[in-house]
Amino acid sequence: MSIDGLRVVYITDESETVAVDSFSLDVKKGELVSIVGPSGCGKTTILRCIAGLLQPTEGKVTIGDKVCTSPGSDRGMVFQDFALFPWRTVKQNVKFGMEIAGVPKEEQEERAMRYIKAVGLEKFADSRIHELSGGMKQRVGIARALVMHPAVILMDEPFGALDAQTRNIMQEQLDKIIVHSDRTIIFVTHSVDEALYLSDRVVILTKRPSSIYKIVDVPWPRPRDRASPEFTNLRKRILEYLEQQNVMED
Ligand SMILES: Nc1ncnc2c1ncn2[C@@H]1O[C@H](COP(=O)(O)OP(=O)(O)O)[C@@H](O)[C@H]1O
Ligand SMILES: [Mg+2]
Repeated sequence: MSIDGLRVVYITDESETVAVDSFSLDVKKGELVSIVGPSGCGKTTILRCIAGLLQPTEGKVTIGDKVCTSPGSDRGMVFQDFALFPWRTVKQNVKFGMEIAGVPKEEQEERAMRYIKAVGLEKFADSRIHELSGGMKQRVGIARALVMHPAVILMDEPFGALDAQTRNIMQEQLDKIIVHSDRTIIFVTHSVDEALYLSDRVVILTKRPSSIYKIVDVPWPRPRDRASPEFTNLRKRILEYLEQQNVMED
């Protein structure tokens, strides 16, 4: 996937906000790239452009040889507010996209169960969403995105609302899924720790309008040891980069 010269200007009655400027990034197939940066710098705006939900003022997003100008099944999204159907069961939620796409019933069943298992929810396949905890709902959201086999998965602070312990479990689960698939993932997070645990590369943005400040490679095998000296050192370096962008909020 390639993002070329993205620029986004929001125009309202009172003001013009340049949210993103000169943002370019190539992401390899199978890569997980995290995006971190100051609050309000334009991270969600970048994801919305990739998703095709927002037309950039300038620049373009290309997957393969296709320019993305509208949402498509080649891009799956996982957001912080789960956007699940509360009255449907876990399995029915995971099947939803496949129903719309007209996937044969038997295949729907097989794929839904495969991904429900992958996120550790097989015992809850027939539970209704409103019966689940926040962490479990988030796992349904991930299974629902993965089951469509999108070329690219976009995640906007997906674990931001979870407590620390659930968050770690979710990171470990996603990590296992990454190792066993060749899915390309763009992952926006506030947590440098999370970014280092999960990513092949961490992209650090400037303050608004966001462009790339630094890109850090994370070369270690998975699963990673958060307590190791190299992990701690790299985390410190990224935090310093973020401080240089005045990220220390409030
Ligand atoms: N629909 C919109 N209209 C006007 N301004 C917006 C809109 N969406 C976001 N912005 C502004 O663009 C900037 C970047 O927003 P956003 O991409 O949500 O940042 P982040 O996700 O990094 O916190 C912010 O200053 C925000 O107020
Ligand atoms: Mg955001």
